[in-house]
Amino acid sequence: MSQPTYIILLGAPGAGKGTQAERLHERLGLTHVASGDLFRENVSKQTPLGLLAKSFMDKGELVPDDVTVRMVMERIARPDCARGVVFDGFPRTEAQARALDAAFAREGKRLRAVVLVAVRDEMLVERLTARWSCPTCNAVYNLLSNPPRVAGQCDRDNTPLVQRDDDKPETVRRRLEVYHQQTAPLIAYYRAAGLLREVNGAQSIEQVQAQIVQAIEEA
Ligand code: AP5
Ligand code: MG
Ligand code: ZN
Repeated sequence: MSQPTYIILLGAPGAGKGTQAERLHERLGLTHVASGDLFRENVSKQTPLGLLAKSFMDKGELVPDDVTVRMVMERIARPDCARGVVFDGFPRTEAQARALDAAFAREGKRLRAVVLVAVRDEMLVERLTARWSCPTCNAVYNLLSNPPRVAGQCDRDNTPLVQRDDDKPETVRRRLEVYHQQTAPLIAYYRAAGLLREVNGAQSIEQVQAQIVQAIEEA
């Protein structure tokens, strides 16, 4: 079997990481591993990890690195990740990036590319306040730019769509601050490693997807 492909999608809240990762899954067969979705699954099942994560997520803060790293490492060890993974929302701190590097070095795995989806802050706030998502399959919609076929209901499984608790304007603003303080330094980190590719996330979903695929193919 050929080497698995590992891609990181880096970008601010609302940049379109989840939207693009789902399409990469359909297009390249990579498994979509989203730390935020994993936390939300734990919140809805009321696991101890979920209760801990919720206390941070509701404030727009990051969940501590140790529990986050452990959760993601367990996820990518499962058989459905054997062909490769697109990471969405992980890593989000330099400590998480170093932990991923160390694990990959131990296991002989290699990151293919880190794709930064760049969008300016004002547009992000606008996108997030119009976002609705499916609690069953994590599909993401937008009332303005990407509405479901039937209002309020998922195209794939008809589940009623919900708004995320952390998409309130004040929490969105805090998430953006946290992104600039704690996650944006990863741009320099991966640029120094020669892995960074940047795409303009302010284009249509299809245009952004085409540029991401091109960036991966060129990597
Ligand atoms: P997480 O779930 O990762 O949220 P996030 O990073 O804030 O990102 P979002 O999901 O809000 O945005 P997205 O980039 O996926 O955009 P989307 O595709 O939905 O994390 C949530 C919380 O969990 C964190 O705050 C933290 O507490 C915790 N957490 C998660 N990971 C962690 C980690 N590693 N360490 C510590 N804590 C962690 O798109 C947004 C909207 O825009 C949608 O409505 C979509 O339809 C629309 N849209 C997308 N693309 C376009 C386009 N090109 N044009 C127009 N509209 C578009
Ligand atoms: Mg997301
Ligand atoms: Zn669904």
